[in-house]
Amino acid sequence: MSKCAWVTLTTNDAYSLGAMVLAHSLKRVGTVHDLVVMITPTVSEAMRSRLREVFNLVQEVNVLDSKDATNLAILARPELGITFTKLHAWKLVQYEKCVFLDSDTLVIQNCDELMEREELSAAPEVCWPDCFNSGVFVYRPNEATFTSIIEFAAKNGSFDGGDQGILNSYFSQWAHTDITKHLPYTYNTAAFAVYSYLPAFKEFKNKIKILHFAGKVKPWLLNFNSETKQASIPPMFTHCGDFIQLWWNIFCDNVHQRLSDQMAGLAGALAQVRLGEPRSSEQEAYEASMRRQCWESGNIDYTGKDSFDNIWKKIQETLEMKPEAPAKSADDDNDKSSVTPPEIEIKATAQKLIASNVTTPKPARSTNKPTPQPPARQKSKKSK
Ligand code: UDP
Ligand code: GLC
Ligand code: MN
Repeated sequence: MSKCAWVTLTTNDAYSLGAMVLAHSLKRVGTVHDLVVMITPTVSEAMRSRLREVFNLVQEVNVLDSKDATNLAILARPELGITFTKLHAWKLVQYEKCVFLDSDTLVIQNCDELMEREELSAAPEVCWPDCFNSGVFVYRPNEATFTSIIEFAAKNGSFDGGDQGILNSYFSQWAHTDITKHLPYTYNTAAFAVYSYLPAFKEFKNKIKILHFAGKVKPWLLNFNSETKQASIPPMFTHCGDFIQLWWNIFCDNVHQRLSDQMAGLAGALAQVRLGEPRSSEQEAYEASMRRQCWESGNIDYTGKDSFDNIWKKIQETLEMKPEAPAKSADDDNDKSSVTPPEIEIKATAQKLIASNVTTPKPARSTNKPTPQPPARQKSKKSK
């Protein structure tokens, strides 16, 4: 067969966690095809070198951002303008056929047969089945197509502010011309479930080939007990708790040991967690805070406001908060409703500490300092 590849994208170290797990999920099911990750300059050096160990090709691309605040606001995902960067996938002309996979997808069963489909094949978007979801799609790399989509985007814009809007407009014939370009839903099953299709999820669960954690709540943002290696499954994900655990199992078996404290944000925080060992409450609070930052910004690495030191300062401020001080309200996104907001967890930790007047225990691998200190992480060490 001609040269084919699985292609994903990550613009920061947090999404890179997803990309690494995705790559290992593809290896786990024995794919014969190459693995490619497109990265932007905002991925840390430490993460790049790890990605190179897992992917056949780590291709740096520049950020393409729709900067379409209006349509992104309708989508309620202000951070997704950056997904225009996905369009660079058409420039991987060393491959004849590729399947793009969002880095929040997890391959459950071998699906190499997807490479036999034609451009543009994709599965329906669950919320609007006459559109396809652009988290999984089959395409043919081609410079001319890239230019043509970019020109089309410049002229027409994207109705959702992200790649999915532009791709659905550009490949608008997908909806009603060739049924072979409609992938079965099992190739891009949304992990979140609503009442109307939960029974179908249960009925066809064992046929799912690719699960997509579309929406704000990504597996790496869920609480995870590093001591027991068990993820906390929020009620909205009960039906696919085993798949979330599979994501974390792959993380523990193949990814965790590759992380380093030179990585940014949550990846750097998780690097300091020792699997199978108890965590200090400070570490738990720190990770929770990281996750909160991820939720709120979609990318936590390159503005500087989410730097390790700032996060730690925030934890210290929170620890000093009066117990009755009101917690900042969570935003009204439904996705978040079933997960304990991290600041509440931090507050609880703070209250416990204040009540017991304990001396802050030393976080794992930290230097021996008298007051709470960032666990083993120095300003100068952090790469962008
Ligand atoms: N992405 C990224 N950095 C970001 C946001 C998105 O690298 O800050 C990439 C990543 O591959 C991700 C894809 O763009 O999977 C689409 O975003 P996301 O999966 O969050 O969108 P959703 O599927 O939730 O609508
Ligand atoms: C979607 C897709 C995602 C895409 C985003 C922006 O919901 O799941 O792949 O990047 O919208 O268009
Ligand atoms: Mn996605």
